Amino acid sequence: MSDAIAQLFANNRTWSDRMQAEDPAYFLRLVRQQAPEYLWIGCSDSRVPANQIIGLDPGKVFVHRNIANVVAHSDLNALSVIQFAVDVLQVKHILVVGHYGCGGVKAAINDEKHGLVDNWLRHVQDVRERYAGQLAQVDDFSWRHNRLCELNAIHQAINISQTTVLRDAWLRGQDVTVHAWCYSLQDGLVNDLKVSARGREDATEQARNAIARMFWMSGKRRRGTDMPVQ
Ligand code: CO
Repeated sequence: MSDAIAQLFANNRTWSDRMQAEDPAYFLRLVRQQAPEYLWIGCSDSRVPANQIIGLDPGKVFVHRNIANVVAHSDLNALSVIQFAVDVLQVKHILVVGHYGCGGVKAAINDEKHGLVDNWLRHVQDVRERYAGQLAQVDDFSWRHNRLCELNAIHQAINISQTTVLRDAWLRGQDVTVHAWCYSLQDGLVNDLKVSARGREDATEQARNAIARMFWMSGKRRRGTDMPVQ
């Protein structure tokens, strides 16, 4: 076994020992059931670990991650995760968490060529093209990049709200809210994008307002009346 892999096993044993020392019943409880209230849909980026960012232990958050936190309408993997989380686990909140500095979003903006993944990032480019006019207003790459990270998270939240899973859940009165967030690698803080939808129309209306506010705020910042653009 390589030293690197042996180290992982050593880390694992240390972690297991520590958890059991702190709480002898810890693993016994987890074995019995998982009852998470949250579904996290985030980027695969190694710098965006779901549990740590929101301070939750194993068992507390159901997680799905892929490149650029995309929820495509026909992605059986994401749809299965969402369906199981909503119908079986009955999560109360679905957190769509984009992140500033996302490499997938950057590749989508720049039309970078990385192979098969370019096809996946077409979904992000669909969002980019939808807001091409607004994004072109500012000649600053990091500004455009950050706005597309936010727009992408908001649009993936809309996509979730349009799945049969969420529509059926809301129709039967289930309490589940879809949120759009954006995480900052620079300070570890989550930015609430002000989309917390409890219905399909709710999602599109909140998204419209959030996006209008986003571009309005950015214009205000550019005129020097607010904090600098991240
Ligand atoms: Co990313």
